[in-house]
Amino acid sequence: MDYTKLSKQELLKKCAELEISFSKSKNKTQLIELIKEKESSHLIEQKIEKEREENELSKKNKYTMIDLFCGTGAFSHAFHMTEKVSTIFANDMIDSSEAIFNLNNFGIKLTKKNLSDIPDSEIPNATILTGGFPCQPFSIAGMQKGFNDERSNVFWKILSILEKTQPEIIILENVKNLQSHDDGNTFKIIIENLQKLNYNIKHEIFNTSKISGVPQNRERIYIVGFKDPILCENFSFDFPEVDLLPIFDFLEINPSNKYYYNEESAIYEKLKSDVIKNINTNTIYQYRRYYVRENKNSVCPTLTANMGTGGHNVPIILDDKGIRKLTPRECFNLQGFPTDYILPNISDSKLYSLAGNAVSVPVVKLIANKIINLLETMDE
Ligand SMILES: C[S@@+](CC[C@H](N)C(=O)[O-])C[C@H]1O[C@@H](n2cnc3c(N)ncnc32)[C@H](O)[C@@H]1O
Repeated sequence: MDYTKLSKQELLKKCAELEISFSKSKNKTQLIELIKEKESSHLIEQKIEKEREENELSKKNKYTMIDLFCGTGAFSHAFHMTEKVSTIFANDMIDSSEAIFNLNNFGIKLTKKNLSDIPDSEIPNATILTGGFPCQPFSIAGMQKGFNDERSNVFWKILSILEKTQPEIIILENVKNLQSHDDGNTFKIIIENLQKLNYNIKHEIFNTSKISGVPQNRERIYIVGFKDPILCENFSFDFPEVDLLPIFDFLEINPSNKYYYNEESAIYEKLKSDVIKNINTNTIYQYRRYYVRENKNSVCPTLTANMGTGGHNVPIILDDKGIRKLTPRECFNLQGFPTDYILPNISDSKLYSLAGNAVSVPVVKLIANKIINLLETMDE
């Protein structure tokens, strides 16, 4: 701020705000000097306080993590369940993410800002860095512009953060299509750049429904990188397949009437003729533009971020009361969040969008447990 433009009266007001005493007798130049001195000591105090908080957190738990593009906070949640990890920096740029992250008490507040606008020097060093970076540029549902899409520029920002923060381990998550995008070139560029920063990489595509029992068909690629080649060698993605749980177990007992369709809905007649099997039979439907699709494998179709926008892609079921869409809480359940994960008081569309963008908690938990076990064995 350019204080030379302020009047003496305004400068005195600023001095009072900053609790600078004996200022009335000073001239403008002296007042400005006092203000600047006070402000810089404030900044130093803030920095010391922040470092103290970070130290406290890292003392409490053995390992620290940076949660980038943190959305719902699912990565932090899964790692905190190991009781060995503290999140010391979390970032996203949208209000709904700030709301849900801060409500769920991860020990720090989310930094709400475009990541590209945060200087690397403001990001603390940590053991682990996680990031489900924006997938639309690579997604079949999007325009597939890849690195030509400005949203994917954040990948270069991730690299510069890695250079500064030097985490031992990184976990990046994205849509399955990332691997085949642009005939595999995009993926090659990503892996090569991580290798240039001395990360030893393993990657795998998982379907949530196969390895967690949570009945959602969600295929995502996980890229895990280790600075230490021995850790990488000892890490494997060999998670056994487990039995699917019934969709019914993930439903709310008494959802609000607002989620039920009635005659007022333009698609009601269509739904009435096509949505005929009760959820007791594990059948779930999706309205796709002009038709209703029945999901035959007893799994919920992939929950997506755009569920929030039109509403039509929210999966639909028939229960004893009628035909309805899944509630936001049910979508969080089908991403494996615990039922006590706090949902903020924001619009349903924002909640659907958060749920559709998230990583499935039990999938990250499997990876997190394995990583923490490995780190602890190496520490012994
Ligand atoms: C695919 S979602 C990740 C969701 C998260 N992994 C979870 O489990 O909830 C991508 C997130 O990145 C955020 N994002 C996209 N570009 C960003 C940027 N430049 N700076 C900060 N956040 C960004 C979006 O707001 C969105 O929440």
